[in-house]
Amino acid sequence: MKTKQQTIPFHAASVGEDEARAAADVIRSGWLTMGPKTLEFERNFASYVGARHAIGVSSCTAALHLALEAVGLQQDDEVLVPTTTFTATAEVVVYFRAIPVLVDVDPVTLCIDPAEAEKKITARTRAILPVHFAGQPCDMDRIQQLAASYHLHVIEDAAHALPASYRGTPVGAIGRLTAFSFYATKTLTTGEGGMITTEDDELAARIKVMRLHGIGQDAWKRYHQEGSWYYEVTNAGFKYNLTDIQSAIGLVQLSKCTEMRNLRARIASQYTDAFSRCEELEVPTVLGDRESAWHLYVLRLHLDRLTIGRSEVVERLKERGVGTSVHFIPLHMHPYYRDAYHYCDESFPVAQREYYRSFSLPIFPGMTQEQISYVIEQVIEVVKEVRRSPCWPSDCS
Ligand SMILES: Cc1ncc(COP(=O)(O)O)c(C=O)c1O
Repeated sequence: MKTKQQTIPFHAASVGEDEARAAADVIRSGWLTMGPKTLEFERNFASYVGARHAIGVSSCTAALHLALEAVGLQQDDEVLVPTTTFTATAEVVVYFRAIPVLVDVDPVTLCIDPAEAEKKITARTRAILPVHFAGQPCDMDRIQQLAASYHLHVIEDAAHALPASYRGTPVGAIGRLTAFSFYATKTLTTGEGGMITTEDDELAARIKVMRLHGIGQDAWKRYHQEGSWYYEVTNAGFKYNLTDIQSAIGLVQLSKCTEMRNLRARIASQYTDAFSRCEELEVPTVLGDRESAWHLYVLRLHLDRLTIGRSEVVERLKERGVGTSVHFIPLHMHPYYRDAYHYCDESFPVAQREYYRSFSLPIFPGMTQEQISYVIEQVIEVVKEVRRSPCWPSDCS
């Protein structure tokens, strides 16, 4: 019997009545922007990831920008960035008229390849921006060693990696500066938002000032009863603060963060059980010393065993009501990076190859068992339709 067609979005945010009530309470309180709720969210977030400081900001992009500002990035400096990432990771480097030096990725994790990164270090290299791709932490020991040997700043892009851990340490407590995203599709969402964690008191103080126009740390209090009208501008800062409405939503989300991660891990394990029996598919590998946040489930195709390519597979799944996405079109393939920095496809053989054979399946905590089973069934059906050698023994037939 043919299964009834369903429509499964690539992502649906796990927000509900508790988040709505928390946001409404803030609105009723009359204090809408950064204030007590943001301070509480920062405190709870810091304790959740085991960091000394957590600073709420308007996005992960803002977090990365502020982190690079805090370490003093200058024009013409070079920053190592994996090519398999979202443009935010590299565009923040361009804000300084510095140069994003793209680096190929590891074929297993799709995180920056430390050996490739080392080859690209020059006298002008100042920092490395590892991205914990899909939620799996990068090889942080090797990255930290590289940073120590060449005196580089490490700023982790953890937009995908809440909660995740590397050799038992949570992301957010590993390196000196870590940037998180609370964008609508992320594992903790406030609609838009972000957080920077750091162990360093001086960096934290600088970031707090720069996220709010370069005025004193408690400037937000100037409209508060306990505050004063007087303030001093000490720098030309940015308007990158997180609001109390966002933070109230964030506090509810944070209280469910581990549970939501476990639900995603359960979906991932069902996908992996089903797809690893299919020789046309390659399932994601999480290395033994890491725990993934499972922000994304990236499935790869063995193209030599199929008669169609990734884009057509995605199209067929769409026709069957399964929403998917692709993470990521490597940065060196985008017109801006290609033209501005003369990157070419041949310089990034791993990212290039993996891009053409990968796509991301729905993996959100609210997925029902029926939806998970439907996704599995449709992926296998599509593979069966287009496998090159229908008589090959394959358990997924
Ligand atoms: C790897 C990565 N870094 C940074 C960002 C930017 O996050 P935000 O939208 O919070 O600025 C994203 C967003 O998708 C991302 O995937």
